[in-house]
Amino acid sequence: MVGVVREREERDDRATFTDLKKARKEDCTPMMRGFNKVASPSQNAERILKMFRDQKGVNIGTAVDLYEHGLQTATRAYRDGCDEETVVVALLHDLGEVWSPINHGEIVASLLRPYISPQNYWVLVHHELFQAYYYQDAFELKEKNSRDRFKDSPHWKACETFCEKYDSPAFDPEYDSLPLEHFEPMVVRIFNRKPYVASKSGESWLILDSEVNKAKLTLAEAYPSPEELEAA
Ligand SMILES: [Fe+2]
Ligand SMILES: [Fe+2]
Repeated sequence: MVGVVREREERDDRATFTDLKKARKEDCTPMMRGFNKVASPSQNAERILKMFRDQKGVNIGTAVDLYEHGLQTATRAYRDGCDEETVVVALLHDLGEVWSPINHGEIVASLLRPYISPQNYWVLVHHELFQAYYYQDAFELKEKNSRDRFKDSPHWKACETFCEKYDSPAFDPEYDSLPLEHFEPMVVRIFNRKPYVASKSGESWLILDSEVNKAKLTLAEAYPSPEELEAA
């Protein structure tokens, strides 16, 4: 009985349209609440952290598993004085590794795109090409230095630094990585940023480096702010 009542209450708390074309102003509040229940910024952060935890024991044939590789990349970035956003990018950079190895950087780049700088987005998308620089001879790749196709990009140096200092050396089982708990609040803060408005060192700016981001910024305005969600 309790279950039936709860189900009815939940149904009453939903938008009533059966076709999005018929959505009305009154549908906004239940939809806002619905989103908040399942996709609040903190829940999304927890969801991505769960994906990260799932990398424990997933090994691509290296001395450490993907979980340790992520922790180690993030710890190296953190100890080198990188800003919080870059540390989070380092932690999560290989999240898509076994979903689609050939373009795995694009997977997490897409998940983080509304919350990170164009430069860090670029680093994520391109990092596997830059990593190839280190194994191209061992694996006898046909094309050497493919990273140099992108030499004219203003983000080339940042990606080279990321791979050289943090990603490439992060396969060392003897390294004393910081635990995931150290990075969890950082991930939560990144996901609590206003979408398409990045913020580093207390300064905010709009991520308007492409038409699609400009358009999605206007779409983001339809989503409730964390304050609105709390009040709803
Ligand atoms: Fe990678
Ligand atoms: Fe990596």
